Amino acid sequence: MNLKGRSFLTLKDFTPEEIIDLIDLAAAYKEKKKKGILHDTLRGKNIALIFEKTSTRTRCSFEVAAHDLGIGTTYLDPSGSQIGRKESIADTARVLGRMYEGIEYRGFEQSIVEELAKYAGVPVWNGLTNEYHPTQMLADMLTIREHFGYLKGIKLTYMGDARYNMGNSLMIVCAKLGMHFTACTAKEYFPNDTLVAQCEKYAEVSGATITLTEDVDAGTKGADVIYTDVWVSMGEPEGVWEERIRKLSPYKVTREVMDNAGKQSVFLHCLPAFHDLKTKIGKEQGEKYGFAELEVTDEVFESEQSLVFDEAENRMHTIKAVIAATLGEGE
Ligand code: CP
Ligand code: NVA
Repeated sequence: MNLKGRSFLTLKDFTPEEIIDLIDLAAAYKEKKKKGILHDTLRGKNIALIFEKTSTRTRCSFEVAAHDLGIGTTYLDPSGSQIGRKESIADTARVLGRMYEGIEYRGFEQSIVEELAKYAGVPVWNGLTNEYHPTQMLADMLTIREHFGYLKGIKLTYMGDARYNMGNSLMIVCAKLGMHFTACTAKEYFPNDTLVAQCEKYAEVSGATITLTEDVDAGTKGADVIYTDVWVSMGEPEGVWEERIRKLSPYKVTREVMDNAGKQSVFLHCLPAFHDLKTKIGKEQGEKYGFAELEVTDEVFESEQSLVFDEAENRMHTIKAVIAATLGEGE
């Protein structure tokens, strides 16, 4: 694998072999970490972490991964820099590119992270945009492979808002890696036609299949992985909640869904999740619309089939692989 100098903006830019190499590298780092073997081979480098939206997993993963590799970090919070308000993306990119060996960006349109990458002169990593969440994909694939032992041929069903970052990115990674992707949701939440057509092309090569269905019974039957995400994403207006709850409630992940998928099935969620009313937003929306839980029931979330915390841990190991591979590990 030689990804030195490359940005990591969407998995559309990476071959199946490169994706697998990154997962393998993450698994190797995970083993080192568990054994307490130091791997601070990138000492002396520094990276900037731009967050225009909030984060727990992605921010902590970048900070811990960088620290483990010997790299220094600067965190720029959603309000603490000049980006976008007083300084353009292109100017910010050129400034940060003079000080840092790499830049992470979490924020809004994909075009912003693309522009950063165009001007920075150093690798830029997408920590989530409206359209894609590629570092999350590596963690999800590592988690699935750890559990089942393989990826090709796995049936993954995504329920909920499949036209946003998570649905799009899961469809891409499944299509690239020869997995069977189903979006099981209301029609208006299917991924867009252009992206579906592009993924159909990847699928022709990899042996993957892509299915879009509104039928919960057919869409979840025999699935190895049932995946969901919040129904309203960061940056979306408060006003969309009512429609989302109305349209997406039939696609809540319940015990019946998991039973229909079968005993072999596991549950994944990128997190954070509204599986009870112990969050401010979950409580507000749950009480307003009469639910005790939103996209997944607490029973499924807390069940043996739920791998969500392994998945969250794997964010760190996989992000470490992306940083190391693109900065040139050990050089
Ligand atoms: N899954 C994920 O990206 O979580 P954060 O928003 O906490 O980073
Ligand atoms: N779709 C969610 C993912 C969070 C990790 C969002 O964009 O808020």
